[in-house]
Amino acid sequence: MDAPLTVSQVAERSGFAPSALRYYEAQDLLEAERTDGGQRRYRRDVLRRLAFIAAAKHVGLTLDEIRAALDLLPDGRTPTKRDWQRISRSWRDRLDAEIAALEDLRDGLDGCIGCGCLSLSSCAISNPDDQSARRGPGAVFLPAPLHPDPAA
Ligand code: FES
Repeated sequence: MDAPLTVSQVAERSGFAPSALRYYEAQDLLEAERTDGGQRRYRRDVLRRLAFIAAAKHVGLTLDEIRAALDLLPDGRTPTKRDWQRISRSWRDRLDAEIAALEDLRDGLDGCIGCGCLSLSSCAISNPDDQSARRGPGAVFLPAPLHPDPAA
């Protein structure tokens, strides 16, 4: 069995600051054992968890969504490929929506996005007098994941 990793070893390998490791532990996103002296020690699979957290945050998932996904993993043992497959299945729709939104963003930025700037000639047609403001804040012509949800 691999020797448990120290905070600095995990921080160096994962790219997360030690303060972030403590924060994620406080958020129940990862676990650490304690030595007799009270120092944190991590199982090596914590690195995959952290990589997962980094990727999930990058695509805009909230800590609550990340925690809900990580809660699908078994406590106390290294997750298997099948465990991770269960998570990716639970996220497929969410990630597909993010991918579609990003594609729309890539393909839609040359036209009016309904942000209120009225700076493009197409704004006069698509968003006369900034009528889109009635639909809420942000670039409301962009897919929902890309503009603030006033209800959030
Ligand atoms: S691009 Fe901003 S309102 Fe049209």
